[in-house]
Amino acid sequence: MKRIKSSIKEGAVFFKNAMANPKQVAYVLPSSPWLVKQVARVADLAHAKRIIELGPGTGGTTRAILNEMSDDARLVSVEINNKFIAHMQKTIQDDRLVITDQGAQNLPVILKTQGWNAADVIISGIPFTTLPKGLDQEIIKGIYDALKPGGRFLAYQLRDHVSKLAKPLFGPYTFKKVEYKNLPPMRIYIWSK
Ligand SMILES: C[S@@+](CC[C@H](N)C(=O)[O-])C[C@H]1O[C@@H](n2cnc3c(N)ncnc32)[C@H](O)[C@@H]1O
Repeated sequence: MKRIKSSIKEGAVFFKNAMANPKQVAYVLPSSPWLVKQVARVADLAHAKRIIELGPGTGGTTRAILNEMSDDARLVSVEINNKFIAHMQKTIQDDRLVITDQGAQNLPVILKTQGWNAADVIISGIPFTTLPKGLDQEIIKGIYDALKPGGRFLAYQLRDHVSKLAKPLFGPYTFKKVEYKNLPPMRIYIWSK
């Protein structure tokens, strides 16, 4: 009962902020439990130590990632919506997690602040299709540069715009799947650097 109540509350926080910032948030509902589990599972996080999440929203994907991470791994979640950050800070207590409001376009600063040379895995739910013109390319380049050689970039997206952005840098994706148990159905892509 408590879990149902908190997921209804989380849905309401998400909906309200999606209505207020439609281009930034892009969908009216947070990702389904099936999608977040699938994203965290296929990201293959067992051996990853330095993980970055872009666009955690109300934190459903963050919790799923934390569940798959090892005890000595660290997760930096990058979110620009302060209401979402406040919700995550209230609802997720985990010493392995750092939340930053710097924005996905600031990955060099984010790495430096953590004292990291590079990330092992970057997982992104930010809506590449509705980002301001030019920011989509800037963020993809930043993701590529922030990953270690052999590192992985996972994106879950409604449209395939992200694959057109990523291909010139990463080459063809190494994994693609559509998760239908989500409204709307979502494509999951993985690239390897
Ligand atoms: C589609 S929602 C995904 C939320 C959550 N991960 C989920 O699956 O339910 C996209 C999120 O990306 C965030 N976002 C948009 N632009 C961003 C940026 N430049 N840097 C960081 N986060 C951003 C939005 O505020 C929103 O929380």
